[in-house]
Amino acid sequence: MMPAPDKERLGECRSLTVTCLSETGWHDNDLMLADIKASDGPDASQWTKSWHADNAAGSASLLEVTLLDGQRRKLLIDCGWNTTYMTRRFEDTGVARMLEYGEVDLLFLSHEHLDHLWGLQAVLRYRPDITICVPATFSDTAHAFIRGEHPSPTGSDAQALIRHAGRIVTTPVGVPVPLYPSCVAVAFDLPVLLGIRGEQSLYFRVRDSGTVCVTGCCHQTVTTLADYAVEHISMERTLYGLYGGLHIAPFGALTAKQEEMIKDMHRFGFRKIAANHCTGPAAIRKMIQLGYPIVYGSNGRDSSGTLTLGNGDGVVFE
Ligand SMILES: [Fe+2]
Ligand SMILES: [Fe+2]
Repeated sequence: MMPAPDKERLGECRSLTVTCLSETGWHDNDLMLADIKASDGPDASQWTKSWHADNAAGSASLLEVTLLDGQRRKLLIDCGWNTTYMTRRFEDTGVARMLEYGEVDLLFLSHEHLDHLWGLQAVLRYRPDITICVPATFSDTAHAFIRGEHPSPTGSDAQALIRHAGRIVTTPVGVPVPLYPSCVAVAFDLPVLLGIRGEQSLYFRVRDSGTVCVTGCCHQTVTTLADYAVEHISMERTLYGLYGGLHIAPFGALTAKQEEMIKDMHRFGFRKIAANHCTGPAAIRKMIQLGYPIVYGSNGRDSSGTLTLGNGDGVVFE
């Protein structure tokens, strides 16, 4: 493994503003669960399973970083699933114009799950040459999909796909990779549901406040994510913020093990937690019960209630 850069060299920013473009991976939980369990079960490849295309929505967020010199940088984390739905979300939130005007530096793909990747065409129609950052764990099929050579099972045929014309940047596993001063990508390798591997997350070091962890689904677990930050990113033993899907109990009640993990989050001392997407309402209710500082949402369009930072909602870490 390559040596990690010194923590000091990772830099700091003034602030990070996150806008949730969509936390709605899919519209109907029961239908999604049925599709996951069908066609050879949850470990079968997402690329060969059948999906109810009309159940697709998608997860994506806009991250705006203000650097110490006042420069503002924008990046997207993930691009959702349903191209029509995501196009509407990009239009409604102003992201479509940001992409067209070249204001978004990077599309950071956390992992290749359908609800985070298969909406790529909705980004490419505005900016086909956007730089895309993927973890080293991405499959050949996912790379072929990005190139426009392989359709998703719920998309149009390969002939009609816009081909990505920009750079691909790959994050190696287990090494902090600075993208800007203060903004660090880390890829984790593990087998994940639906026959995929790995997930990458982002860490931001906010001056005078501390480290913020930003996730897509956090399949590596929230404690793995936070432990990594304490060891390799943060100057302090505690962390400032947490945003994104935490994949704790997306489909129902908490197991004893999941409850233990939520209790264990206590040791990181988060001062702002904006969870959404696959975290699960039972998991967020447990965090509230434990007195964790949850940022509530406004239950905007297609969101799952006020417990999550929902569609169109924002949170500022400064
Ligand atoms: Fe997801
Ligand atoms: Fe996922």
